[in-house]
Amino acid sequence: MDLRDSPDAAMLRHTPAGPGRVGPFDCAEESAHYAFSVQLLLTEFAPVVPWRQEGVAELGSGDARAIGQVVRTEPELRVHGTDISASSVQRARETIAELGVADRYTVELGDFFAWAGSPAGQQVSTVIANPPYIPAPDGDILMPELWGGEHGNDLVLRLLEAGFEHLVIALPSYSHPTETLDRAADLGYRAANFLAMGLEFGRYSREPKVHRHIQQLVAAGHGWAGDDEYVVAVALLTRSPEVRDRSAQVRRALQLPG
Ligand SMILES: C[S@@+](CC[C@H](N)C(=O)[O-])C[C@H]1O[C@@H](n2cnc3c(N)ncnc32)[C@H](O)[C@@H]1O
Repeated sequence: MDLRDSPDAAMLRHTPAGPGRVGPFDCAEESAHYAFSVQLLLTEFAPVVPWRQEGVAELGSGDARAIGQVVRTEPELRVHGTDISASSVQRARETIAELGVADRYTVELGDFFAWAGSPAGQQVSTVIANPPYIPAPDGDILMPELWGGEHGNDLVLRLLEAGFEHLVIALPSYSHPTETLDRAADLGYRAANFLAMGLEFGRYSREPKVHRHIQQLVAAGHGWAGDDEYVVAVALLTRSPEVRDRSAQVRRALQLPG
């Protein structure tokens, strides 16, 4: 059994010896790209994605600065966030109070997948996420909560399998996006549209153990990265048959073959 499947195990990773090492996720460019893309994609696809009626759920709110700004500028948006990092949740609640959006943005401490299986989780059909994406041989990395398994896409694959209708998710080019997009297609998702941005490696992907692992994955054909750069596409994956499927364009934006 994968211990990361257990909410208790997830919470245990938040001991002072773990996430306390670096505090909440911190990568301003990536978070801004995620936030801007969520806002544009939700607005553009409002006729297909019922976020105004149902609200959305968020896997991994971090310090909530990214989506807090979106909630502030979109008065009809309601977000229920979760995060397994206690320090992130504490910071997120401060951010939300400062932005004055506590009536429409809440962040709960816990495992997203436990919440998704609850009655509240089953009321929502849309999830937004810049999920954990760091590929590494094990979770002993700078910020263990960012570990996405050996290929970096474990949580995205779980999200796809969880059965939500609409996902706005960040897909880094080095976290085996071919496997992710293939699985999404098998499960009936179309990529309605996306925004892609080139980024330099940040503190998490520069960690020598992670950097080495990324170079090995890329050499094995499991994604794309330069010496110190990669691409992140934030895509709306939806099961709605009403949208054109742009997954081939997402693959090209992520520098993937074929
Ligand atoms: C890449 S960070 C994104 C943070 C924020 N959304 C942003 O873009 O600035 C991913 C976040 O997911 C959280 N996380 C990891 N596993 C989780 C899980 N199973 N349930 C909820 N949150 C999780 C991490 O603690 C981390 O804060």
